[in-house]
Amino acid sequence: MQIIIYDNAQQVAVNAAKWVQSLIKEKATPVLGLATGNTPIRLYQELVAQYQAGNCSFANVTSFNLDEYHKINEKNPQSYRSFMQENLFKHVDIEKAKTFLPTCQQDQNPREQGLAYEEKIKQAGGIDLQILGIGANGHIGFNEPTSSLTSRTRIKTLTQQTLTDNSRLFADDEVQPTTAMTMGIATIMEARYILLMATGKGKAQAVKDMITGSVSANCPASILQMHENAVILLDKAAASMLDDHNYYQWADQQNRKLNQEFGFYHNF
Ligand code: PGA
Repeated sequence: MQIIIYDNAQQVAVNAAKWVQSLIKEKATPVLGLATGNTPIRLYQELVAQYQAGNCSFANVTSFNLDEYHKINEKNPQSYRSFMQENLFKHVDIEKAKTFLPTCQQDQNPREQGLAYEEKIKQAGGIDLQILGIGANGHIGFNEPTSSLTSRTRIKTLTQQTLTDNSRLFADDEVQPTTAMTMGIATIMEARYILLMATGKGKAQAVKDMITGSVSANCPASILQMHENAVILLDKAAASMLDDHNYYQWADQQNRKLNQEFGFYHNF
């Protein structure tokens, strides 16, 4: 894992945006894995700003979101389709027909929908760069603790902690969904690069478990220890429980020197 600690959430977003821009500039048909939640909002704002400044285009991008609520209409303002539309899609030149979310409506078979989503990702050539947040309980996507580390796209029941964490987003008269379709952990692990962002003190324990805990289904994000190209971008608050804080900062300085000497090192 490459662990990079920034002073604040804005710097995390600006640097995450550089990774995304680098991918979409370099690849003819880039495939981006997208996430919803509070954490990536700043990243999307930065990408929109870069797009408006004429520094990047999403015209050739295909995107796959991590998750979507089960049986939700895409027009519902609480759907993750609506979230993506409001925070990114409507502001840039991405083609709607090339943006995918793992949906499953009332009359659809979740197993078939999951398989079809996996197939679509394969047909697109696989995900080049997957954006991730992390839940306070260590989840990635909606792969809650105890999710199989080899799981594929399927329906998950959300934990009470996730429901409580997300309840702030729902008005009193809105029904909060308790199940969601999510890419599986094995699906996420097939992305060529992973870019996980975590900000704020509320994520500090999950970040510590992810980086220095055992690889365990109890902290699904810990599987990223097994990923060849996992980049973890943290603000100081999210990194506050890491013992080797100084080492990560020093290693980052050394990596920057290598980057200056040999160019930005990645292979999308
Ligand atoms: P958050 O969610 O960005 O809203 O904290 C992250 C996640 O649950 O993956």
